[in-house]
Amino acid sequence: MKNKITVSAPGKLMLFGEHAVVYNRPCLVTALDQRMFATVQKLDAHDFILDAPDVNVVSYKKQLKTLGRGDIPKGAQFVEFGCQNFFKKYKVRGGIYIKTKAQFFPKYGFGSSSASTVCLIKALFHLFGLAFSQKDIFDISYKTVLDIQKKGSGFDIASAVYGGILYFVTGGKVIQPLKIDRLPLVVGYSGRKADTAVLMRQVSEKAAKYPNVIDGIYMQIEVIVELAKKALLKKDWERLGELMSINQGYLESLGVGTDMLSAMIYASRNAGAYGAKLSGAGGGDCMIAICSPIYKKNVVAAIEKSGGTVISCNFNAQGVRIEL
Ligand code: MEV
Repeated sequence: MKNKITVSAPGKLMLFGEHAVVYNRPCLVTALDQRMFATVQKLDAHDFILDAPDVNVVSYKKQLKTLGRGDIPKGAQFVEFGCQNFFKKYKVRGGIYIKTKAQFFPKYGFGSSSASTVCLIKALFHLFGLAFSQKDIFDISYKTVLDIQKKGSGFDIASAVYGGILYFVTGGKVIQPLKIDRLPLVVGYSGRKADTAVLMRQVSEKAAKYPNVIDGIYMQIEVIVELAKKALLKKDWERLGELMSINQGYLESLGVGTDMLSAMIYASRNAGAYGAKLSGAGGGDCMIAICSPIYKKNVVAAIEKSGGTVISCNFNAQGVRIEL
């Protein structure tokens, strides 16, 4: 049995259905070829040591018996709780050293916490010589997210585990890989990091105030996701773009848009994109636009002109895998 392993998992981008997917509705998500890497090593000593320089965690060390207790830096929470949940569920224990490194800027909202949790869990299954399935990785990683955030659909975990483009329903009730070989998407970063937990809380406060209105919006988003799934499978990019713009309207109604995201979204539409929307929780992070290759240059230039940063990436990337 190995005592050291390097695992990688893809970042993700929400295509359709954010927020509604927290409340038992479906969404569509793609994995990105920008990956998180984690090297995990078994130690003789009963220590948990984490180096995650991307999120300012350096030589963070504690004894195994104190896992999950005391002041835990934000950047260490997912890996620490993930390790604790794994030990508890599989009744194993041992000193662990973890080093994580992302190919992407953690502020993009590509799911660095979920990807590092998934890498860790896959590595632990191997290091402790346990049989497992992709669903086992999903379940324990998703439990970790809920332990920390209390709320969340788990779509980001599913994307890191399975990769590709997924049709996903809350909590992994449905995880359906879609066979799509290309996606003419442009991604723009707004320059501001979104706080998913805060945005989910704001939306749930709105839902408490206007339950029927917000539930109606979730229902419409579900209809959009189902239509978008069909359009994706048919590679009907024009229809997909129109559906994106309609989805964006509902996200604005939920109150998660920002001036900057709107500027980038309108700029890309005016430059010829079929449609555009924010991607993820809103309040910052990224927007996405779907456009034909003819207009791609113009759309990229328009997003940059409106102050955004275009991120070049490929979609439909492979799920969690062993590197070394
Ligand atoms: C955040 O990227 C997407 C949300 O739908 C939260 C979730 O699905 O866990 C807002």
